[in-house]
Amino acid sequence: MDDRLSKSAGKQETAKKIRPTLVELLRVARLGNLDETAEHIEKAISEVDRAVGDANNASGVAQKLNLEIRPEQLQDIFGSAIQRAVPSNDVEWDKRAKQLSTKVNKKAQWWRKLFRSGDVDRVRDVYEKKWTPEAALARFTKQAGDLDPIVWGDKRYFGYSSGIKRVHLFVLMRIIETLRPARVLEVGSGMGLNLLILAAQFPDIKFTGIELTSAGNEIAQTFRASPKLPDQLAAFSPLPIVDDQAHRAVSFFQGSAAQLPFEKNSFDLVYSILALEQMEAIRDEVFGQIAAVCSGHVAMFEPFGDWNMSPMRQHLIASRKFFAAKIADLPRYGFEPVFASEDMPSKLSFGVGVVVARRVLQTSGEKHAMTLVDAGR
Ligand SMILES: C[S@@+](CC[C@H](N)C(=O)[O-])C[C@H]1O[C@@H](n2cnc3c(N)ncnc32)[C@H](O)[C@@H]1O
Repeated sequence: MDDRLSKSAGKQETAKKIRPTLVELLRVARLGNLDETAEHIEKAISEVDRAVGDANNASGVAQKLNLEIRPEQLQDIFGSAIQRAVPSNDVEWDKRAKQLSTKVNKKAQWWRKLFRSGDVDRVRDVYEKKWTPEAALARFTKQAGDLDPIVWGDKRYFGYSSGIKRVHLFVLMRIIETLRPARVLEVGSGMGLNLLILAAQFPDIKFTGIELTSAGNEIAQTFRASPKLPDQLAAFSPLPIVDDQAHRAVSFFQGSAAQLPFEKNSFDLVYSILALEQMEAIRDEVFGQIAAVCSGHVAMFEPFGDWNMSPMRQHLIASRKFFAAKIADLPRYGFEPVFASEDMPSKLSFGVGVVVARRVLQTSGEKHAMTLVDAGR
């Protein structure tokens, strides 16, 4: 081994050894409300993670799906929601990062009580109030809401989270182009806006959504009734609309993902965008249901643990009882990961990427890939 390699291997070993001690110190500092100390320890842990190369565990997934996404395309789509790129040692950034970390630490106990069990009734209560026509328009406006600190690889930005949302939609469009499903289900479809835009992009595909709240579904149905895809949704689409009337064919169901009202193998692709994050308390049931109705692939834009190694992100996810699965958990639910994004823009406080996984049947201890339209891809 050359000298540089052995030095870096030694550094990684040391970093791995000291991480558990730092995590324990952080726990004690938080318990004692020693905010400044906690903040320094968090920084040290992030440095250790970088040294170990663990800042993003998703990089270990074999990439079997060629999505042909050029970084310039993502940059283009993301660009319209960016106020400014942030250089290192930016005072405003450091201030916001510190505020965020303090907010997460301060609110953690309150969140723990509020989201005590993260159960379905609690989530329904929150979203029945949240989904309003105004919220729909704000959510799908390129520049709305507060500016967020956003990280993308080693780059940092102040921007609107709509930029992240448009990147998700674009990547989902590429996934659909690659897999060519005939029947697609969104789980936790909110106000239906992703589905309406996707239908206008892929008029030959049958799109369906299932959503917990009546408020979300009512708004979805109002948009669907519009003779033409509303201009705001067309403008939000990262690709030019193909058929501005195809949104009228989307089907919306109200119900819980833990009890899907569909026949087995009804969908070639099941996807979710920041919805499984709300279903941690019922994760096993939901994955069981998705596995039953899915005959092909799943695509999940969710905060897998692999993208949330930093202490602040882990703390936020744990205290809000958000999705805590790792990509490596998917085979347990009958899914073989075939793609995981390595680098997508995310809020500083919360890492989200996409995992595509193929449904595999598990019979008497053996795994068989199911027959797919695109088998072998
Ligand atoms: C953050 S929103 C995302 C909505 C949509 N996917 C989007 O990208 O705009 C999460 C959605 O998941 C829904 N949800 C949460 N738990 C659910 C469950 N058990 N079954 C169905 N939907 C659920 C919520 O009601 C909410 O509409």
